[in-house]
Amino acid sequence: MPISKIAVIGFGVVGSGAVELFYKNKELIEKRSGRKMDIKWICDLRDFPGSPFADKFTKNFDDILNDPEITVAAEMIGGKTLAYDYTKKLLSRGVSVVTSNKELVAYHGAELIKLAKENKCNYFFEASVGGGIPIIRPLHQCLAANRIERISGILNGTTNFILTKMIYDHVAFDEALAEAQRLGYAESDPSADIDGADACRKLCILGSLAFGKHIYPEYVHCSGIRQITLDDVEYAETAGYAVKLIGLIDRTEKGLVATVCPRLVSVNNPLSGVNDVYNAIMVRGDGVGDTLFYGRGAGKEATASAVVADIIDAVKHENADIASLTWEDSTDRDFIAPYKSADVRVYVRVKCNDADSLKGLITQFFGYVDFIPRKQRSQNELAFITPLIEEYQINKKLALLSEHADIMKRIRLL
Ligand code: HSE
Repeated sequence: MPISKIAVIGFGVVGSGAVELFYKNKELIEKRSGRKMDIKWICDLRDFPGSPFADKFTKNFDDILNDPEITVAAEMIGGKTLAYDYTKKLLSRGVSVVTSNKELVAYHGAELIKLAKENKCNYFFEASVGGGIPIIRPLHQCLAANRIERISGILNGTTNFILTKMIYDHVAFDEALAEAQRLGYAESDPSADIDGADACRKLCILGSLAFGKHIYPEYVHCSGIRQITLDDVEYAETAGYAVKLIGLIDRTEKGLVATVCPRLVSVNNPLSGVNDVYNAIMVRGDGVGDTLFYGRGAGKEATASAVVADIIDAVKHENADIASLTWEDSTDRDFIAPYKSADVRVYVRVKCNDADSLKGLITQFFGYVDFIPRKQRSQNELAFITPLIEEYQINKKLALLSEHADIMKRIRLL
């Protein structure tokens, strides 16, 4: 039986995890795929003295590119400069590429998928969204009969870990972030996690696949969790919600509405119970209804699980591209509706001296609102949840309210 030869590019956390998992379960993997496989090259500029994989290391990418035996390469260097260049060169030679690189897929997915198809190979990226959670394949295979109506998800493990610490342990934001970094969940620049860029890239990948057109990160309204305080978390809890960083795409009559932002998630929604580094993605199809995909969204072994699954699939589909894994490129955002045109409820926290008269004003502007009591209520503030109306309208009413009170916080509901 011929042996499929694989190259691994980048031997960091995910890369080393993928190599280790591959050799741990090699026998099982080969049995399941019906093919013999081996990792021939591991490309990394660093030295790894004493590594059991010493015979495979190279610092020269050309060793891989010019090796006719290599049919599949796993790119795990991240970023969109070198990774982009290497991926294009490999796909152009008909070598399938699998990746955990969400940034590259979010910015160049349409182009790289097209290039793979032109060269009768595959570009797979199961590990780019939700770590080890199977979500890419379910979206374009198991749910292929559905028109997708909504995707909502907790797509970033670091921020979910931080928010969980804030909710359950009443730990301040900075302390929770430091722990997430120590555990290796955060990106090298944690602002990509905290400010929502990482979740945004993952949402773009899911949305592009589900809705068929490339959704670039700049099409998505994105804000992170830096401004969430323990006060907000406590008000939310009192009202029956958990604060979560939510990636959301809704198909509406006006177009797709795509946002990444903190939201109050009702305790009745399963996403509210997704804690720690776990991610979860709800996909609503017109046939199937709501489906939920849950698992470890970050970490070495979990992400490696998805990378190795892609390697197996790429080996099984040498010289045959997977037709359903595709979307069109987009040159403008005319299929995206302004996020403020969506109906939404908003949690608002205002400073005030005279709560009774301010309540009267708020009720006058909004009609009925839910005022949120608080266990240790500060005397000079008021929190409430607006009714469900277009966000433009909410902003107009809050502008009027701001003439009477200092608006400290607004957070959308899911
Ligand atoms: N920093 C990312 C997260 C890693 O926290 O979710 C996985 O993509």
